[in-house]
Amino acid sequence: MDARNSARPNPSARPQSTRRNLEPGDLLDGRFLVTDVIYRGAISTVFKGEDLEDNRRAVALKVPEKQFEVNAALFSRFQHEEDIGVRLSHPLILRFIPVRGKKSRPYAASEFLRGRTLAEVLSAGPLGESEALKLASLVCDALQHMHERGVIHRDLKPGNIIVCDDCSIRLIDFGIALNLEGRNQTFVGFEAGTPQYMAPERIKGRPGGPPTDIFGLGVILYEMLTGSVPSGDPDPTVITEARLTGDPAAPRTLNPRITPQAEEIILRALVRDPRHRYQTAAALKADLEAPDQIEVTGLCRRLQSSTPWRRGLRRARRVAIWCLVPIVIQGLLFLFLWRHYAKE
Ligand SMILES: Nc1ncnc2c1ncn2[C@@H]1O[C@H](COP(=O)(O)OP(=O)(O)OP(=O)(O)O)[C@@H](O)[C@H]1O
Ligand SMILES: [Mg+2]
Repeated sequence: MDARNSARPNPSARPQSTRRNLEPGDLLDGRFLVTDVIYRGAISTVFKGEDLEDNRRAVALKVPEKQFEVNAALFSRFQHEEDIGVRLSHPLILRFIPVRGKKSRPYAASEFLRGRTLAEVLSAGPLGESEALKLASLVCDALQHMHERGVIHRDLKPGNIIVCDDCSIRLIDFGIALNLEGRNQTFVGFEAGTPQYMAPERIKGRPGGPPTDIFGLGVILYEMLTGSVPSGDPDPTVITEARLTGDPAAPRTLNPRITPQAEEIILRALVRDPRHRYQTAAALKADLEAPDQIEVTGLCRRLQSSTPWRRGLRRARRVAIWCLVPIVIQGLLFLFLWRHYAKE
């Protein structure tokens, strides 16, 4: 993560005006000095800064673009992300910095992470199996902590995992996380995840639970070991259709060096029906840490591809079932009436 647009901390830093976007050199709420742009997204920018109330410690500041500040849904998404982040306390989850008092604009402050996103790491190619399983096992630790506190991440992807310079990881970005204990989650409109990593139940519009994150991690594992996501078509509609109607290609067909045990773990994490996936991150972690003890059940031979003719066949089967229902009901009714009148 190389900081871009670097600016020297300005001793006469301008107090930031809420009429324009933040930029390096600005002083936010008299406390955070903005020094660099780390990442510019469509909705928000992540800056590097210094916390003047904490020995100029390096911080990250995630700030929505000015035009989105007035959007109530986005505003609540930001508030929500910070509320969730502050509730979680785990060495592998991004640590948020609580800000007391009224903020002059929406933003979230957090520890600054030195490292690279997993997406950047993977741009150099797939990982070795033991490294990939170890990394996924660390993500499981973070997920288990979140899930035990009723928080589902729902946007697991390599861009939201930082591989730190000290070889640990951090899970970031709780923008669309679900708080199972909270009511009224009101950021509709900014809730979509990333189709490639989205579990089938999320595509169907369900809120999701712990197995939803297991699916996301399954896609990441697949990508770490094969170099591509399952059904990696660039068209999101093709991906979502594939997630709903088919299984991924067996990982070993893409990379024969993957062991059958690792393949079995990935496929168990990617089962379409969330009830038949790993139910907890702890269960997945146990397998990741002892792959040689896994029973290979031949899941890879029972995979259904999502080819158009298969989709057509399944649709035809559904239509046939729905046509049969009224015929069966009429038949039963006829039988009932016939027996009734035959007695008389
Ligand atoms: N605390 C941090 N320390 C260092 N870099 C960070 C930090 N938080 C975020 N980043 C960088 O900023 C990027 C975007 O962060 P984040 O995912 O939180 O924002 P986002 O607007 O939700 O992005 P997207 O919509 O692409 O997921 C990360 O991929 C990472 O490179
Ligand atoms: Mg993100």
